[in-house]
Amino acid sequence: MPQDTSSTAMPLSAKTEAPRRSAGAPDWSRQGWRTRPRVQMPDYPDAAPLNAVEAQLSRFPPLVFAGEARRLKAHLADAAAGRAFLLQGGDCAESFAEFSADNIRDTFKVMLQMAVVLTWGAQMPVVKVGRMAGQFAKPRSAPTEVMGGVELPSYRGDIINGFDFTDAARVPDPQRMLQAYTQAAASLNLLRAFSTGGYADIHRVQSWIADFTGGPEAAEYRAIADRISDAMAFMQAAGVSSETAHELGTVEFYTSHEALLLEYEEALARIDSTTGLPVAGSGHMLWIGDRTRQPDGAHVEFLRGVQNPIGLKCGPSISEDDLKRLIATLNPTNEAGRLTLIARFGAGKVGDHLPRLIRTVQAEGANVLWCCDPMHGNTIKAASGYKTRQFDQVLREVREFFAVHAAEGSVPGGVHFEMTGQDVTECTGGVRAVTDEDLSSRYHTACDPRLNASQSLELAFLVAEELRARRTGTPVGLRDAV
Ligand code: PEP
Ligand code: CO
Repeated sequence: MPQDTSSTAMPLSAKTEAPRRSAGAPDWSRQGWRTRPRVQMPDYPDAAPLNAVEAQLSRFPPLVFAGEARRLKAHLADAAAGRAFLLQGGDCAESFAEFSADNIRDTFKVMLQMAVVLTWGAQMPVVKVGRMAGQFAKPRSAPTEVMGGVELPSYRGDIINGFDFTDAARVPDPQRMLQAYTQAAASLNLLRAFSTGGYADIHRVQSWIADFTGGPEAAEYRAIADRISDAMAFMQAAGVSSETAHELGTVEFYTSHEALLLEYEEALARIDSTTGLPVAGSGHMLWIGDRTRQPDGAHVEFLRGVQNPIGLKCGPSISEDDLKRLIATLNPTNEAGRLTLIARFGAGKVGDHLPRLIRTVQAEGANVLWCCDPMHGNTIKAASGYKTRQFDQVLREVREFFAVHAAEGSVPGGVHFEMTGQDVTECTGGVRAVTDEDLSSRYHTACDPRLNASQSLELAFLVAEELRARRTGTPVGLRDAV
C-alpha cells in the first residue's frame, strides 16, 4: 500500500507529479448532486440523525490520501496503454457479520496469487485493486423482496439496512455509515500492514496457496511459484534481496467500491492540500454502477468533481450517445487513467455491444482503460432458488472480451471479479466442480455469488493465457478447453 509521499514498489511510466493547483471541475460542489435525480439511494425516515452522522463523518480523517489516488491513476494510465494490467476483485458486498482478519487476509492472498499468475503470463506489472474497505452499498433490481407471502424493502447493503428479513432490519439507518467507516478503516489498516509488512514479500510466494486448493490449478500455481523461488534464490546469491530491493518485499494494493451512497461519499470528500482539488476520501478508486450512470443523475454529478480514478460500468443498455456524454462529463480533459470502462454484458452478448462502444471511444479519441467484469451479466437463478453464476459463462465472457479487443485493435486492460479467499460454493463449475446441489453447502455471500479461491486461480490462468497470446501474437489454444 503506497504512503502519500514515500517511493513505492511498482514502476510508473506516466508522470505522477501533482497537477498544478486548479479550480477543478466547473460549477461543482460537494452537495451539487443533491439537486439531481437520484436512483437506488435510501429514503432515510428521519433527517436529524442523518445530518448528525454526516456532520460526524465530515470531521473524521479521510481513509485514503489524494497522492495515493493520483498514483493509482498513473498506474491505470499504464494499463490503458497496454503497459500494465488491472486486477480488481473482492466481495460483491462486504458485510459487518463476515468482517474478520482472516477473511481480509484470504481475499488479499488470492489476489496476490492471481497477480503472480498474471505477471508471469503477461510479463508486465499488475495493478491490484480490491473491492474492499468500502464496498458496502448495493443497487438492487427490485425495491422490495417477497418471502413466504411477506413483502419487505430490499436489503441494500450493510451501510444502509440489515440483511435479516424483518421490518425493523430493513429500515435505512444512518448509524450504519459510522460502522462502515470504522470497518473500512480497520480493513485498510490491515491491508496496509499485509502489503508492506512482509506478508506480500515475493519470497513467500509458496505460502499464498490456500490449504483447500488442491486441484490442477494449484499444481500449476506451485510450478510457477517454484520457478519464481529459484529465481529469487539466484538473485539472493547475487546480492539482491528484499532488504536491498524494496520492490521484492512489498506490493501496492489499492481499494475501490461503488460510490452509491452519496451522503457517505460527500461527507468523506476532502480538498487535497497539494492540488487544491476535491478528492473522495472513502477509497482510491470509485465506480458508478450500471443502474446509476444517468448522464444527468446524482452519481455522475458527484463523481465528475473528485480527482480519483473513476470506473463506469457499461451494460447492454448503454447507448453510444450516453457513453459519449459520460466520457465528456467524467473526463473532460481526456486525462489518462482517469476513466475505466468496466464492460459487463454477459457471455454471448459481448460481440453485440463491445464493438460499438470501442468504436465510439476510438471516434472520440478518448483515453479510457477497458476492463472486463464477467460476473454481472451472467447471474442466473438455479433450480434450487440460489442466485448463481456458471463458471463456464464467466470464462466465456472473458474470452469474448479479449477477442473483440483483438479484432478492434484496442487494449484489453483489466479484469473485475467478485471473489473471495474462502472455499465457498456460490458459482457452479470449475475444475473442482461445484454443482447446483452443492450451492446450499457453503453459500455465504451477502449479495451476488462469488468465485471461490480455486475458481479465481483458474480464471487467472485463463486471463494469463490470453495476455500471453496477445504479447506473443500467437493464438490462445492450450487452455481453450478449461
Ligand atoms: C456490482 O459491481 O456489484 C454491481 C452491482 O454491478 P453492476 O452495476 O455492473 O450491476
Ligand atoms: Co455484485
